[in-house]
Amino acid sequence: MSDKVAYSRHGDIAVLRIQNPPVNALSQDVRAGLLQTLMQAEADEGVKAVVIVGEGRAFIAGADIKEFGKQPLEPYLPDVCNRIEALPLIVVASMHGVSLGGGLEIALSAHYRVAQPSARVGLPEVHLGLIPGATGTQRLPRLTGTEKAIDVITTGRQVKAAEALELGIIDKVSEGDPEAVGLAYAQDLLDSGAARRPVSELDPPAAIDWDATYEAVLKKGRGQISPAEAVRAVQAAAELPFDEGVKAERKIFMDLMQTDQRQGMIHAFFSERAVGNLPELKGVEPRTLQSIGVIGGGTMGAGIATACLLAEMNVVLIEMSDEAAKAAKERIAGNLAGALKRGKISQEKHDNLLTIALEVSQSYDSLKDVDLVIEAVFEEMSVKKEVFGKLDAVCKPGCVLASNTSYLDVDEIAASTTRPEDVIGLHFFSPAHVMKLLEVVVADKTAIDVVATGFALGKALGKICVRAGVCDGFIGNRILAVYRDAAGHMVLDGASPFQIDKALVDFGFAMGPFAVSDLAGLDIGWATRKRKAPHRHPEERVPTYIDRLCEQGHFGQKTGEGYYVYEKGKRGGTPNPKIMELVKAEQQELGITPRDFSDEEIVRRYMCAMVNEAAKVVGEGIAKRPLDVDMVLLFGYGFPRYWGGPMKWADIQGLPNILADIEGYAKEDAWFWQPAPLLKQLVAEGRTFDDLNKDASK
Ligand code: 3HC
Ligand code: NAI
Repeated sequence: MSDKVAYSRHGDIAVLRIQNPPVNALSQDVRAGLLQTLMQAEADEGVKAVVIVGEGRAFIAGADIKEFGKQPLEPYLPDVCNRIEALPLIVVASMHGVSLGGGLEIALSAHYRVAQPSARVGLPEVHLGLIPGATGTQRLPRLTGTEKAIDVITTGRQVKAAEALELGIIDKVSEGDPEAVGLAYAQDLLDSGAARRPVSELDPPAAIDWDATYEAVLKKGRGQISPAEAVRAVQAAAELPFDEGVKAERKIFMDLMQTDQRQGMIHAFFSERAVGNLPELKGVEPRTLQSIGVIGGGTMGAGIATACLLAEMNVVLIEMSDEAAKAAKERIAGNLAGALKRGKISQEKHDNLLTIALEVSQSYDSLKDVDLVIEAVFEEMSVKKEVFGKLDAVCKPGCVLASNTSYLDVDEIAASTTRPEDVIGLHFFSPAHVMKLLEVVVADKTAIDVVATGFALGKALGKICVRAGVCDGFIGNRILAVYRDAAGHMVLDGASPFQIDKALVDFGFAMGPFAVSDLAGLDIGWATRKRKAPHRHPEERVPTYIDRLCEQGHFGQKTGEGYYVYEKGKRGGTPNPKIMELVKAEQQELGITPRDFSDEEIVRRYMCAMVNEAAKVVGEGIAKRPLDVDMVLLFGYGFPRYWGGPMKWADIQGLPNILADIEGYAKEDAWFWQPAPLLKQLVAEGRTFDDLNKDASK
């Protein structure tokens, strides 16, 4: 007998209480428990109605994702759902917290649904590379109509109770203890003589232009297949009898279960949750975090200040001059106006944040009471050292001193203070109040509770925090520099930047590397190339054709011309014809005969460069686990979520294949393509990156 579903009797009504913390996932024992208690209710003399309710913080969060990829175990969820609907008693689902995926499918199989005002429902299976696989695509459209169902299923969004009522997903909203609410509703139904109301017996949804909808959804998903496949499942609901539709849904679900995309998405789901769980932080108390200092109110400082204000922290921002202070305040005001416009904050809160919670000052003395300071001044070691010297003099003991540097050595910055144990890197991404990633850069002497405080700040700001060690560029920018170089080499050898961008967008990246350079500003890369020129290895290949464009004052989007030409008021640009002329000139100068590249080769080389450097980053301990790299690329660099991240992608391709390709490329350029020792070791041992993730979680 399963103890995951408790049975109790209240007069004529039986209550089935699911108790599988933390979120009542529908593991095998829950499914078995539901079947047993349904039979018990049917056999229990005098029971006229059944209420299904969840214990704890949610009704049911869905199927147990940990069971995916393994042999399915009976009883299967669609059978449990159909058994609920077939019960000859009235069945009520009383929903609180979330009812997601299989959780909503259970509720849709009940005859009536009541939910708390704060409840949310949804079918988020597409975020796992799947479609609803337990009759959701067949029942939901019978309640909401085709178009609304397609919206809910293909976006996977969570629908609040009020909207769910409007859409017909639930029948009633009522506040109170979920069991009491369910019992009262069931009693009302019995008293009014209501009949059972199986959703499967409602009219099928209307037909639409299925092929056009499929194509539109596929395009929107940038290569993700499951949302488009969900359209086909809804089509089956419209065109086939219910039982046949359920079979069609199940087939699509099982086929998607075998895909790489499902593996990638589920890896992303669990990694997103594992990334902040560092064994070294267990039981370590973070320091207080009520007031934050920010030094520099430029692009990053203003974004960081905005993020802290939105998280209800007081912010003291230091700038150098009246003019810079005014500009910083305007930037923050602009960011907050955006939050107000999007309904994230009320007018009152907006006003309070700007006038009460924020102080802009030119005196470092204003920082004497803050708990943590984030420095975001110019990327110059001498400037950073001067700022940290001042902070050291003015900040209270125990104040955390953080730098938002992109590349500079945090150990060296820490050494410029008398308290290196309080110094840490907090590397935000631009725009800092929007981007989800935060690299927490741990220097040699950083105290463990300072690391915990970095993670606590990130969590309060709603960020995905990844621990990184000190090196040039930490995790993300270090790896970016290498795969960006691989793209540059391909241009010299004959692929156009436009073909490369397109191939990578087709692979699933949000943008190609050359469009990204135009967006970030070509002057940044130009300055880096000049800075690095004296230290270059003689065998290093560095394209210089783009410097010619920079010399003419063209820096990408902000000047209207870069790899692409940008017309005012238009989104995106068109290929700049000058680029291929400049490339040709450089090829001639270097004696290179350009060759053709297939899109497949472009993606392979780009990805191999990324994976190889990532393996070095993990091998050197800069990232603790492969999953840390995956989350950095996913949340900071537009990597397609359905591949799970570069390390997961590499595992799926097979590490021996990746190594063989890298060794092949090394025949042309042995300096650039030096295989990572960790990659070689894993191949020799027949292990994967994911094995290292598993080792780390033991
Ligand atoms: N299966 C297994 N474990 C789950 C789970 C699930 N469906 N949902 C959440 N968990 C686990 C998490 O991994 C986490 O475990 P941890 O503590 O060991 O890290 C724990 O429950 C708590 O989850 P969160 O940290 O995410 O807690 P939150 O309160 O922030 O969020 C949630 C709760 C909104 C339920 C969120 O976890 C979520 O979105 N879960 C996934 C929901 C989902 O995708 N459901 C569909 C499943 S597929 C399906 O049902 C197929 C069917 O159609 C056949
Ligand atoms: P920015 O040039 O937009 O802003 C720097 C600001 O610091 C200016 O407003 C300047 O007036 C102020 N400033 C300079 N010295 C100061 C001092 N001594 N005291 C007080 N204020 C001072 O630069 P941005 O882009 O915001 O970068 C800041 C830091 O963040 C750099 O270290 C950069 O590498 C890093 N970073 C930048 C990212 C980006 O995308 N721009 C992303 C992540 C990190």
